[in-house]
Amino acid sequence: MRVEIKELRFSYGSFQVLKNICMAAGPMVTAVIGPNAAGKSTLLRCISGLLKADGEIILDDRDVKTFARRDLVKLLSFLPQETNGGAVLTVFEAVLLGRMHLLSWKVGDEDLAVVSKALDNLKIGHLAKREIGELSGGQKQMVSIAQSLVRDPRLLIMDEPTNALDLRNQMEIFELIRRIAHDKQITAIVAMHDLNLAARYAERIVVLKEGEIYSAGDPASVLTEEMLASVYGIKARVTIDENGIPQVIPLGPSEESN
Ligand SMILES: Nc1ncnc2c1ncn2[C@@H]1O[C@H](COP(=O)(O)OP(=O)(O)OP(=O)(O)O)[C@@H](O)[C@H]1O
Ligand SMILES: [Mg+2]
Repeated sequence: MRVEIKELRFSYGSFQVLKNICMAAGPMVTAVIGPNAAGKSTLLRCISGLLKADGEIILDDRDVKTFARRDLVKLLSFLPQETNGGAVLTVFEAVLLGRMHLLSWKVGDEDLAVVSKALDNLKIGHLAKREIGELSGGQKQMVSIAQSLVRDPRLLIMDEPTNALDLRNQMEIFELIRRIAHDKQITAIVAMHDLNLAARYAERIVVLKEGEIYSAGDPASVLTEEMLASVYGIKARVTIDENGIPQVIPLGPSEESN
């Protein structure tokens, strides 16, 4: 699915958070990065249709405003930054609920198979019968990711999906998201803080600074020492590895922000 955003503006009351955002994303992984309060979550909520913004959001040549809510939920899956799962559901039941909008009056074999496969893909099959309320923070996050994936979306929007996960799980989740994006031609837009993870798993990076796009492009063109100084206020060294992937080594706060 092709996503095109034109002159997007959004305010909470009189506080303008997003100013003239123009960006596009196709079937691949696009990372949205930027400091705290830059507007990443707000942007993702606008793209998901949860917040009504000024400007245009075009999904495959059609303005998002012309979609009925129920058609939009079939098309896209939004994983918010904060999730609180229903404590009395088992993991299997909770993930199955992710397919609610696809279910008829009964749960079919295909639904059960999709849920089982998602749990296997995320290596949380052993948790299937456990109650959500008794899981660790990272395990809950894995369940939320599973709920997002079983929806079979064409547009996958995730807000810091791996912030509670250990290094290995972070890498495995992003590997999985990238594989799904490629195999199923899904457009994934993912807000994240880990720049090296973004460099490794995103084809494109969009940098938000104070509600505006500072830069956008492939990781090597975006993750520059100059960007890190002016957007994040840090001194950093950026090296490019043998695969052309930039690696950010933070050295400390830059002088101006001291
Ligand atoms: N519901 C709200 N009402 C009023 N202001 C809000 C609301 N949600 C967010 N804001 C403000 O909008 C700005 C952008 O917030 P947003 O959550 O989009 O940032 P973010 O880039 O996702 O930050 P973080 O990295 O901390 O998650 C912040 O100044 C925040 O205080
Ligand atoms: Mg956020």
